[in-house]
Amino acid sequence: MPPTLAAPDRDHDNGPVDLTALTPPQLQARRTMKWTTYPPDVLALWVAEMDYPTAEPVMAAIRAAVAAETFGYPMNPAASGLPEAYAGWALRRYGMTVDPADVHVVADVMHGVRLALEYFTAPDDPVIITTPVYMPFFDIVDLARRPQVHVPMATGPDGRAALDLDRIDAAFAAGARTLLLCSPYNPLGRAFSPAELAALAEVVDRHGGRVVSDEIHAPLVHDDRPHVPYASVSAAAAAHTLTVVAASKAWNLPGLKCAQVLTSSPADRATWAAIPVWDLVGVSTLGMEASTAAYRDGEPWLTEVLTQLAANRETLRGRVAGWPGVRLGSTEATYLAWLDLTELGLTEEPAALLLREARVALSGGVPFRAPEHRFARLNYATTPTILDAALDRIEGALARLSPP
Ligand SMILES: Cc1ncc(COP(=O)(O)O)c(C=O)c1O
Repeated sequence: MPPTLAAPDRDHDNGPVDLTALTPPQLQARRTMKWTTYPPDVLALWVAEMDYPTAEPVMAAIRAAVAAETFGYPMNPAASGLPEAYAGWALRRYGMTVDPADVHVVADVMHGVRLALEYFTAPDDPVIITTPVYMPFFDIVDLARRPQVHVPMATGPDGRAALDLDRIDAAFAAGARTLLLCSPYNPLGRAFSPAELAALAEVVDRHGGRVVSDEIHAPLVHDDRPHVPYASVSAAAAAHTLTVVAASKAWNLPGLKCAQVLTSSPADRATWAAIPVWDLVGVSTLGMEASTAAYRDGEPWLTEVLTQLAANRETLRGRVAGWPGVRLGSTEATYLAWLDLTELGLTEEPAALLLREARVALSGGVPFRAPEHRFARLNYATTPTILDAALDRIEGALARLSPP
């Protein structure tokens, strides 16, 4: 039986948010995927939900919408205030001018990606997917009935994951027409630099190709790096890109169903306008209200979350450094850490082993199309107490694997 729905005590309504307080039973009481998929003794560090109280401006918008019984069909997105709210956010946060008329509202990011592929590429156009990557990319390209070409991510001279421009170039030369970009990159934790993105844009432009850029993790870029919207790196990039964003990852609202597709050329804006309305349904009224509030008034909460995530990263780095045979990938963006356990020479999936031996749920590497038995993804957007407990458990399980 899933736990009953219970409102947690919210003692932060008028003060700073306590990001350290929620407990596993309180998180289970949310009745969402992260804490209800595994038995209650398992610490859930897998799917990309955060274990923090929701931003108060977002809660206020949702409460107001509930009080006003905003339960009918969503209003015309163009009139909802959401496009302006996103444009304001993009200007303040990324220094990018976005015309609200280029902000289109869809139910979620993966549906936005699917529409971008279906309406902006031709049926036989192969789509390049870099690997390992957020696993629904493979399914969504299939659902859009486009062939897919996989290009493994490279390791740059500095040891960080990098786009393999030579192989992307070769894939376009061999007939690919579109690249599905994940920027910032889940699961490899990269926030691409302007130079990296400009170099990619040059390759794509040379082949007359297209990019669909999933930038859902854009607000979650760390250590004073900027997020660089791919469409902002050149006029050519703007002309060949559809960008898909949402407030749902950074403000933890994926169940409210609201994302945004950004066009960045007059031709693409016109193509979008011709999409039949039945392909655009699925957005929720509460999602629109919550996303508008997040973009408008959610920055102070996000700043606190980013500070907590920085502390958690420090903890994680320190602990993983003490685990022989385990390496941590880049942590420039997202709250998802990629663990490379290759040197342990395991004969099963690390996530399966740690679920059994440590009672910690991570995401396995194989669905991301990483080689088997070597990788797992750890979600560190949790409380310090839960993170410490999970890392203790993992450390214990690893120590039992290879006693000193
Ligand atoms: C890169 C990426 N894209 C999309 C999503 C999911 O977005 P949505 O639920 O809006 O489809 C996620 C969720 O973790 C993600 O990491």
